[in-house]
Amino acid sequence: MEKIGFIGVGKVGTAFGVRLAEQGFPVVGAMDILPEEASRFSNSIPKCRVYDTAQELADEMDFVFITTPDDVIGQVASEVNWQPGRTVIHCSGANSTAVLRPAKQAGCHVGCMHPCNTFASIQQSLENLPGSTFTLEAEEPVLGDLKGFAQSLNGRWMPLQEKDKPLYHASVCIACNYMYTIISMATDLWKHFDLSQADATTAFMPILSGTLNNIENVGFPGCLTGPIARGDVGTIQKHLAALEQHEPSMVPLYKALGLETIPIGIAKGTLSQEKAEELRKLLSA
Ligand SMILES: NC(=O)c1ccc[n+]([C@@H]2O[C@H](COP(=O)([O-])OP(=O)(O)OC[C@H]3O[C@@H](n4cnc5c(N)ncnc54)[C@H](OP(=O)(O)O)[C@@H]3O)[C@@H](O)[C@H]2O)c1
Repeated sequence: MEKIGFIGVGKVGTAFGVRLAEQGFPVVGAMDILPEEASRFSNSIPKCRVYDTAQELADEMDFVFITTPDDVIGQVASEVNWQPGRTVIHCSGANSTAVLRPAKQAGCHVGCMHPCNTFASIQQSLENLPGSTFTLEAEEPVLGDLKGFAQSLNGRWMPLQEKDKPLYHASVCIACNYMYTIISMATDLWKHFDLSQADATTAFMPILSGTLNNIENVGFPGCLTGPIARGDVGTIQKHLAALEQHEPSMVPLYKALGLETIPIGIAKGTLSQEKAEELRKLLSA
């Protein structure tokens, strides 16, 4: 691998580019629809040059990351006139390598390397990428290259088939994106007792860290705490009454999540079948 270039150098492109360059990989090309982004990228990597167009970059690189937004990957792949023998990859979790078909048809190797992590800003992305798990959809020789990237980023890798990508990405989305939604909803409730969402967020940090710590170190189902794990039906009744009074729009989601929590409590062994049935009736009403 002699020359690695990036088309689209936002959060994920920058994290891969900077961290791979630090590990000695030859990251030498950057192109972005926003030239200032490409300059920022190239300024942070020695010997990296900015290219004005995706075509110019692709003509000179052996290995091209298309790290644009998902909906643009296919457009870039089809607009570039690819040279055979090059390697083209993307980092989308929702798209398979099918979106790179124009490059494959032109004789390129293709692959997908999805970092199973979250990147909300350039700085956070640089911090979060090392140690990630990377799901890889590729065949040799690209698979070997991608495993090498994962290893040098101090991460793990797992294979993923094209057919499984939509379900895989739904799972990532539930675990990550919808966790933000749930925390946002929970913290927003504090306005009803005259405390701000910012107060709630600060207060929640230790419990959120503790929750992740329990998941990592105790695991499912033992990590579950709270009224459903204990079978405290009266507490759940109080929650429902309070939500009906102050935030009735949250009741359906509260009930749905409660119903999904019951089997975890049973599996943990702290929720009896009898209490579980009472809770099911309450949460299904
Ligand atoms: N962010 C995450 O948490 C995360 C996690 C895992 C995987 N990924 C994947 O990583 C990839 C990149 O995501 P990201 O979060 O890094 O996106 P991003 O921060 O928005 O960066 C994408 C960059 O590509 C630029 N761009 C758009 N169209 C382009 C074009 N035609 N040619 C060249 N550059 C173009 C964008 O410019 P504009 O801003 O002007 O559009 C932006 O600078 C996606 O496939 C995504 O699914 C993201």
